[in-house]
Amino acid sequence: MNKIESLYADFIQERENNALKRYLTDVTTPKAGRVITGGREYINFSSNDYLGLSQHPTLIERTQKWAAQYGAGSAASRLVTGNVEIFTALENKIAAFKNKQAALVMVSGFQANASILPALFDKNTLGEAPLVFSDKLNHASMHLGCQAASITQMRYRHNDMAHLEELLEKNKQSGTPKFILTESVFSMDGDIAPIDKIAALAKKYDCFLIVDEAHATGVLGINGSGLALKADLVIGTFSKAFGAFGAYIACSKMLKEYLVNKCSGLIYATALPPAVLGAIDAAIDMVPTMNTERARLQNIAQNFRNEMNDLGFDCGDSATQIVPIMIGQSDDALSFSENLKSKNIWAAAIRPPTVPNNTARIRFAFSAAHTEDDLDQLITTLKSYNIKAAA
Ligand SMILES: Cc1ncc(COP(=O)(O)O)c(C=O)c1O
Repeated sequence: MNKIESLYADFIQERENNALKRYLTDVTTPKAGRVITGGREYINFSSNDYLGLSQHPTLIERTQKWAAQYGAGSAASRLVTGNVEIFTALENKIAAFKNKQAALVMVSGFQANASILPALFDKNTLGEAPLVFSDKLNHASMHLGCQAASITQMRYRHNDMAHLEELLEKNKQSGTPKFILTESVFSMDGDIAPIDKIAALAKKYDCFLIVDEAHATGVLGINGSGLALKADLVIGTFSKAFGAFGAYIACSKMLKEYLVNKCSGLIYATALPPAVLGAIDAAIDMVPTMNTERARLQNIAQNFRNEMNDLGFDCGDSATQIVPIMIGQSDDALSFSENLKSKNIWAAAIRPPTVPNNTARIRFAFSAAHTEDDLDQLITTLKSYNIKAAA
């Protein structure tokens, strides 16, 4: 190992010493809501396949069909020759679903945030660096986008409208362009941002509102269209409730045109392959029709929260299909997760830096694919825990 490599090895060692090391585990997913590893099948409570679409025959069929018809890859950036004709019809469907003038398909949610935000915050376009007010718990990809734009974020306490308004008030005299940046459903807490209040503040203080709907798209709102109707620009992903991959931006026609001209993640990246577009296209046909699955999903999560509260577990402010059980220390969260695995339940321990220090947790993510037996097994297992011994 050379000197530079030894520095990386030190990093890994430190992570290991603090129960923070990550591993890649080979798994097979035989069907939605299940995972197999090491020859053993687990009920999967950690995936974001909220509607169970990742294994759906309709998605798989259109994936195969579009690959056969258009090829395995798009072979170029969308601005060159990668803009396979199916993009336009798909983007029209997404825009209609999100009730916006236009939509733009991007390679992934992470890549979208990392490259759209620098385009929107570009100081040459805006005339000066903007003021960006962002929720403290925003996803890592949003922080990366802000860093790439070289702007200083004004971070307000998570979902704290008084704090957001205080920061806006302090800066109200400034004619500098202002943005508010939030998720609608927070990925590690499963709580919901007060979007109406945020939108009202955006209006009052003349801010442009950007909302990441990664965990709301397909799950919440009218026909699963999300919660951010009042946002100026919405970012969302097809990798979660849509069971596929890729991401979208929904906005005005003019903004789409601006992003096509300015967003590095679109200009300098190869377009999504036709097979993936096929899966997204099938999912966008199905998702609006899945109100029964959506209602069941929320019932499952509410029932789980009630049971956990009765047992004395802390589920934070969860109000969605994502329900954490707060543990605190990373090693405790790891052993809790291992313990669940011994009962054939796969529920990952989420540790810093993904979540703030001392807030390690088990993140349960429910899916419409979970059966009543799966849920009974989970609750029965957790009931057998002595809460103190488990943590
Ligand atoms: C809020 C949020 N935004 C963006 C992403 C990234 O999306 P993708 O998985 O499509 O890259 C995630 C995924 O974890 C997320 O939770």
